[in-house]
Amino acid sequence: MKKRRARFSFVGYIIYFFAIAALVAAVFIVYRLFGKVWSAAAVGWTMFASILVLALACTLIDYFWRKLTVEKTVKKIFDATDRIASGDFSVRMEPSHGYTRYNAYDEIMENLNRMAAELSKTEVLRSDFIANVSHEIKTPLAVIRNYASALCDDRLPEDVKKECAEAVSAAAERLSALVTNVLKLNKLEHQQIFPVKKETDLGEAVRRSVLEFEDAAEKKGVFFECDIDDVSALADEGFLEIICNNLLSNAVKFTPEGGTVSISLKKSGEYAVLKVRDTGCGMTAETGAHIFDKFYQGDASHAQEGNGLGLALVKKAIDVIGGEITVESEPKKGSCFIVRLKTEI
Ligand SMILES: Nc1ncnc2c1ncn2[C@@H]1O[C@H](COP(=O)(O)OP(=O)(O)OP(=O)(O)O)[C@@H](O)[C@H]1O
Ligand SMILES: [Mg+2]
Repeated sequence: MKKRRARFSFVGYIIYFFAIAALVAAVFIVYRLFGKVWSAAAVGWTMFASILVLALACTLIDYFWRKLTVEKTVKKIFDATDRIASGDFSVRMEPSHGYTRYNAYDEIMENLNRMAAELSKTEVLRSDFIANVSHEIKTPLAVIRNYASALCDDRLPEDVKKECAEAVSAAAERLSALVTNVLKLNKLEHQQIFPVKKETDLGEAVRRSVLEFEDAAEKKGVFFECDIDDVSALADEGFLEIICNNLLSNAVKFTPEGGTVSISLKKSGEYAVLKVRDTGCGMTAETGAHIFDKFYQGDASHAQEGNGLGLALVKKAIDVIGGEITVESEPKKGSCFIVRLKTEI
């Protein structure tokens, strides 16, 4: 929307000027007409009375002028800010003037409208966030409660007890990951963690992540293929870890047994390019459009694993350190996540 600018209006001042000029002229005419005929005292009193009338007229003009142009509008703005302050963000004010006579009050009203709209958006995000976190907490808590009460039964065979204990441990793990990710995301969003950039071997950081997921991949029967160059860059290791770990975790999670995850790191101009390609389930364009949203999980069959925060974290971390992430994917054929990071500041 084109931003309108308040215009300085001369009309009010011109009217005001002519009103005062007319009164002064009237006093002057009275003086010229009767100055020679009347006594000095009568002229003096007439002048005094004229000045009083003039002052009263100016005060009245100013009073009504303010009443019409300022007080009414200020009251409207005051009522709106009062409603916003008490939590009603649905307030919208109609500017009093059309485009050509747009003044500073109209501009304040439009700014307040924008502020109320932003606040209501934030309120929606906040309540959605609380609903999502509560939902994500509820599922593992229910698992813990059910299996823990099952464990209280002494007649339960040892192997079933072991299964229950493992389920409790996995649910607790999921809760812990949720809390860690929510805290990390919150800190990133509120700029409470800053990247501390130092000369880092990106290849080393990527290899460390690969090692971390090797066990999980092996258990699942997923193979890793690595083509990792030694690329050095000014980077923050903590941020790199968030990016690599989440991309590899997804690649392993969404690739079935016998599949391959290929990781490559190359230097291209002033960028380091990390590619994580898998031969997994892939995703539709519709899913691809939302994967960086908080709590979004595309495939219902994977909904019990993770909380849909991994890629939101990756995106935020890349935004903070300066870079970009893109994804190429086709359902049932696999996905390729490409991260481009600047090697210098
Ligand atoms: N490599 C991939 N292949 C197919 N789909 C993927 C891939 N990576 C992400 N997705 C889709 O994007 C969604 C969001 O991913 P994200 O990493 O944010 O959440 P998650 O892995 O489900 O949970 P979390 O990361 O919190 O453990 C996934 O649920 C999945 O639908
Ligand atoms: Mg993930």
